[in-house]
Amino acid sequence: MFQKNSFLFIVAFLFISNCISAQKFFKTHHEINPYHFEIVKGKLFENAAVTSAHPLASMVGVAIMQDGGNAFDAAISVQFSLAVVHPAAGNIGGGGFMLARTNNGKLIGIDFREAAPSKASKNMYLDDKGDAITAKSLDGPLASGIPGSVAGMFSAHENALLPMAQLLEPAIELAEFGFVLTEREAKSLNSENADLLKYSSAPSAYTLKSNWKKGDTLIQPELAATLKRIQQNGLAGFYEGLTADYIVKEMAHGAGIISKTDLKNYQPKFRKPIEFDYKNHHVISFAPPSSGGILLAQMMKMIAPFDIAKMGYNTPASVNLMVESQRRAYADRAEHMGDPDFWKVPTRTLISDEYAKNRMQDYTPGVAGNSKATQAGQIKESEETTHFSVIDKQGNMVAITTTLNGSYGNRTVVAGAGFILNNEMDDFSVKPGVPNMFGALGGEANAIQPGKRMLSSMTPTLLTVNNQPYLTIGSPGGTTIPNQVYEGLVNLIDHKMNLQQAIDGSRFHHQWIPDVIAVESDFPDATLAILKAQGYTYTKRGNYGRMDGIRILPSGKREAVGDKRGDDSVAGY
Ligand code: GLY
Repeated sequence: MFQKNSFLFIVAFLFISNCISAQKFFKTHHEINPYHFEIVKGKLFENAAVTSAHPLASMVGVAIMQDGGNAFDAAISVQFSLAVVHPAAGNIGGGGFMLARTNNGKLIGIDFREAAPSKASKNMYLDDKGDAITAKSLDGPLASGIPGSVAGMFSAHENALLPMAQLLEPAIELAEFGFVLTEREAKSLNSENADLLKYSSAPSAYTLKSNWKKGDTLIQPELAATLKRIQQNGLAGFYEGLTADYIVKEMAHGAGIISKTDLKNYQPKFRKPIEFDYKNHHVISFAPPSSGGILLAQMMKMIAPFDIAKMGYNTPASVNLMVESQRRAYADRAEHMGDPDFWKVPTRTLISDEYAKNRMQDYTPGVAGNSKATQAGQIKESEETTHFSVIDKQGNMVAITTTLNGSYGNRTVVAGAGFILNNEMDDFSVKPGVPNMFGALGGEANAIQPGKRMLSSMTPTLLTVNNQPYLTIGSPGGTTIPNQVYEGLVNLIDHKMNLQQAIDGSRFHHQWIPDVIAVESDFPDATLAILKAQGYTYTKRGNYGRMDGIRILPSGKREAVGDKRGDDSVAGY
């Protein structure tokens, strides 16, 4: 018995020593243990902080800053690490948006949203009778847009200080040597097991077991090899060569249409952020092809003339007002918003004070509006996502929201390359009047065209006060995202909550169609009873979103917060 135990101990010791000696990053960062870590919800830090959907990713970001990197270096490393430790949403097979403000006030908006493949067409998800086949835009290779995340990180790298190879190293080691699963991640892998097998051409690291448990180690050798190809060959390590071969081969399993040329031609784009003022705060958010920044500006401008603080937090009066602003803004989303390179989005009008005032002319306090009566404004000029935030010692702020769209995207793991593809094509309007997976409607503005980017709701957002960096915030959750950020900011600015309270507060969501308020299960019943009497219909749903934010306090300390709703965790120094 003694001999057997000693033998096992020596084998385990040799395995662990071998892993550690092969590791460059974790060997020098003993403070991060991929096999034992804790979730930290909120904490103050002197210099710099990261908040993300996974404790390991947040800790990696901080270590990168301590190694001489800035917020951009940290963000790139966090993004690649999330692709490993948070496979439901973190990704290299999806896309997203990065919004940043440098410490000298320069704003940077990088759009690395997926694009429709060149063979995509307007009616590609309709049957012979012209009816939408919803599953086609959600499941398997045909649902995937051309991934943008890797290209996005290389664009962000222009503002970084450390070599890209160094920033990829933590993710490579996490994939190669593994990390332990949290209970949430284990459950989520188990619930997707059948679909991951169904929509992929081969079993993968995720389907090695169907009964993952908290504490099991997930090792992803194929993903590690893909990340190493990016480390060695840069963009070509993903968009060309072996990785591109693997992606195109996977397309054949399920009639996917992404070609090698589509991959090689993919380019991220720089977008001028949406900016507006709200009660002494300057708000900066993302422009189309995200609807997030415009919606946020519209809704906050619609309520700006009202004394929300006096109305109270989640009271019938404040929810009535805010829902009516949501209804009006989301009606405009369906009609007017799409990829600005393909559709003239009337941004200037939509976010103007005058337009907000006009849209609220028919608002009657204490009375439910009506989505049949509230259509988009007439304008003449024409779940699964993840968010993280970084603020460094110098005051650079980076907010990134990135997505595969659904949880585990199209559930297709690229055989040989070990990563999951998105099902972002469903964010297009596959047919006017047919809702997407978030129940959102759209029309010509968001119709499918080759090379076009599907309309998003991601809302990475930054705030300054007196031209000084103040806050970075965002969340996953499809069409609920702009409303989550909106409510979080109102909690913070009007209701004077601290950041944890503002983020954890109970949420409500109205998106014009369906004409219903979706509230979290802990939403106050007393408010709901009065809203019902005012004429509203509501549904209770589970928690949604995982909002992460960092705020700079007057002392200069960084108040970092992870949403109570997930494994979200903060780190800093
Ligand atoms: N896929 C969710 C969004 O971009 O809004």
